[in-house]
Amino acid sequence: MDKDKIDQIISKHEGKAKNLIHALMEIQHANHWLPKDVLEKVSEKLGVPLNRVMQIATFYKTFSLVPQGRHEVHVCMGTACHVRGAQQIIEKVEQLIGIRTGETNPDGKFSLERGSCLGCCSLGPEIVIDGRHHSRMTPDKVEEVLKSYD
Ligand code: FES
Repeated sequence: MDKDKIDQIISKHEGKAKNLIHALMEIQHANHWLPKDVLEKVSEKLGVPLNRVMQIATFYKTFSLVPQGRHEVHVCMGTACHVRGAQQIIEKVEQLIGIRTGETNPDGKFSLERGSCLGCCSLGPEIVIDGRHHSRMTPDKVEEVLKSYD
């Protein structure tokens, strides 16, 4: 955790309760998750009750209250991708990075999620890493894609 960076973000929004979501998004982006002590500091510095901060942090899927990897891998398991082999893709990803869905690997490099349609079915099987789409995945291709992340 880069404490200085987080402190900078919080200071930038100090006293501005209306900036709560924006501040949390910046911290999530910089730190990949929202530790409890950081949420307490956000509450104090922005002047928002802690229960309100927790409501926001737990409501939006973009926020994580547990440590996440530097790279978030999302494998589409929607119908079109499933028909085109998404199950083999997720099994290959799990094998390559050594974790199962919902987990983060021990060195903090990758977190893995599976989910529903990403809206580009004709290009499936589809995976998204850190918001970047990778289309027409095969088990071999997914290995190449994962190797390109450090
Ligand atoms: S089902 Fe995978 S992108 Fe639509």
